[in-house]
Amino acid sequence: MEEIYLDNGATTKPFDAVVDVMVDCLSNQYGNPSSLHRKGMEAENILKESRNKVAGVLGVQPGQILFTSGGTESNNTAIRGIARSYSNRGKHIISSKIEHPSVYNTLEDLQKDGFTVTYLDVDREGLVDLQQLEKSIRKDTILVSIMGVNNEIGTVQPLDEIGARIKRINPLAFFHTDCVQAFMKVPLDPETMKIDLLSLSGHKFHGPKGVGVLYFRKGINLRPWQTGGSQEYGLRSGTENVPVIAGLGKAVEIYSKHFGEYSAGMRMMKQRLREGLEKRVTDIKINTPVDEKKAAPHILSVSFRGVKGEVLVHSLEKYNIFISTRSACSSRQARASGVLTAIGLTGEEIEGTVRFGLSSFNTMGEMDRVIDILPGEVESLRKLFRR
Ligand SMILES: Cc1ncc(COP(=O)(O)O)c(C=O)c1O
Repeated sequence: MEEIYLDNGATTKPFDAVVDVMVDCLSNQYGNPSSLHRKGMEAENILKESRNKVAGVLGVQPGQILFTSGGTESNNTAIRGIARSYSNRGKHIISSKIEHPSVYNTLEDLQKDGFTVTYLDVDREGLVDLQQLEKSIRKDTILVSIMGVNNEIGTVQPLDEIGARIKRINPLAFFHTDCVQAFMKVPLDPETMKIDLLSLSGHKFHGPKGVGVLYFRKGINLRPWQTGGSQEYGLRSGTENVPVIAGLGKAVEIYSKHFGEYSAGMRMMKQRLREGLEKRVTDIKINTPVDEKKAAPHILSVSFRGVKGEVLVHSLEKYNIFISTRSACSSRQARASGVLTAIGLTGEEIEGTVRFGLSSFNTMGEMDRVIDILPGEVESLRKLFRR
């Protein structure tokens, strides 16, 4: 039975070329980038190349690209860095009610140190309330952190409108955005969107796990929380993880050449899946915005009444179909999803919610197979739960 992997919101399969580059790096280019000899220079050049590729795609300077261990670390570095460097200006931060735990829990932690956080509401489609944002910006607001694409429902925030409002009301407040699900899926332009800090992660676009990037605007002073040998501009001490950085660079290179084609393909597959499910299964609710302008190409969140999402995940597993309940990092937690609660879902709807995560590796044939199998599984589970 062929595998149908539809959990690409959680992680993606690396491109073959990414694996090749990493293996070559581990076997041959194993020098330390800080070493003075040729082996060191070779490793240093790999870092430089990857930095240039990421910078090129974002339209920024390579010196504004910091390599980290992933989205979680990028978010922590940005938020804690700003909080530690600029608390003399103020201790107020604005965020939203649908952020990833790596943002949300970091802000919760900062509140223990005297920071105040305003969490913006979202509407039924997961869009932040821009008027509430305007009203919430204060003189002592040092940071606004709002994600680009939500990891559970795929909503795209209007980053350009958010950036413009922040800078109009308080030009000194920094704008950070968690773009782990947005990078390579929707157009991003830190310059025109007035983004000061942007996080991304390698494993969401067919790169390796354990590597990410924090873009930071020139002139921003981030007080590092890890000190040592002063690698990465002194912001992240420790010998650089050259193989994964090489892999991330390769994924950026490949993905950026096919950006339009991959996005269009995923949008078509998502539409086929949504329409097929709407036609074949009763009592369902689509949580992802149907208007493609408000939605990323790769995420479809659906609630099935009378079914437990977790049980559905396992029942599809026997057909080698892999989906998830919500985000990978929260699906093992008992707590109800904050995102689904924020968009107004009932407890029963939340329990019956699953997320399909698409990638450029999926096919229309796979969507048809899911549409064939899933309705029968939902029906059997409903009968079972009704008993
Ligand atoms: C929106 C978002 N932010 C941050 C992260 C964390 O990224 P990483 O797994 O690279 O730490 C994820 C991962 O699921 C995510 O979806």
